[in-house]
Amino acid sequence: MRNASTYGEITSKGRNQLCEDISKHLTKDSSFIDIGSGYGKLVSHVAENLNIKSTGIELCEKKHKIALEINYWSNKRDLISIQHGNILNNKDLLKNANILFANNVLFELELNNFILNNFSGTIYFMNFINNKIYKEHINRKWEKLEIDVSWLKKSSNVYKINTNTNR
Ligand SMILES: C[S@@+](CC[C@H](N)C(=O)[O-])C[C@H]1O[C@@H](n2cnc3c(N)ncnc32)[C@H](O)[C@@H]1O
Repeated sequence: MRNASTYGEITSKGRNQLCEDISKHLTKDSSFIDIGSGYGKLVSHVAENLNIKSTGIELCEKKHKIALEINYWSNKRDLISIQHGNILNNKDLLKNANILFANNVLFELELNNFILNNFSGTIYFMNFINNKIYKEHINRKWEKLEIDVSWLKKSSNVYKINTNTNR
């Protein structure tokens, strides 16, 4: 059975699609965080292609260790921070980034709400498949992006909310 730690990752094509979109919003202070960063591929992709500080936090120790090995070889290692832990215990990370991505298809409601309530940056990309979250955020302007993921033959819908255009 699939659970929050096993269902897959954003593909190489998906990483390019996301970076292309993030590139439209870059400022000199931009920094990125991937909540549940898995093997850290998106984290390094963002640092390498957009040249901004890029952080990941991953609950699963096995994935975290592989992520450290993969990212060791990045030519943008100075911009990359990969951490092992539960975001629920690392609230500060949410305050230190202004662009957030979470592949949250199977995250619990508590976790999704925690992310949404503690992120104080400007742009976030999430799935919003949980009806309760969706209802809470329906009044915000959102843009739908189609991002390629490893567990679907078609693309996955990711919703982008830009808090700058929601004020
Ligand atoms: C589908 S994977 C996404 C990997 C990567 N972000 C991507 O899109 O390719 C979701 C990851 O979230 C991690 N995760 C789940 N709950 C978490 C939590 N509370 N804190 C940190 N990571 C978590 C899982 O272990 C899993 O590796």
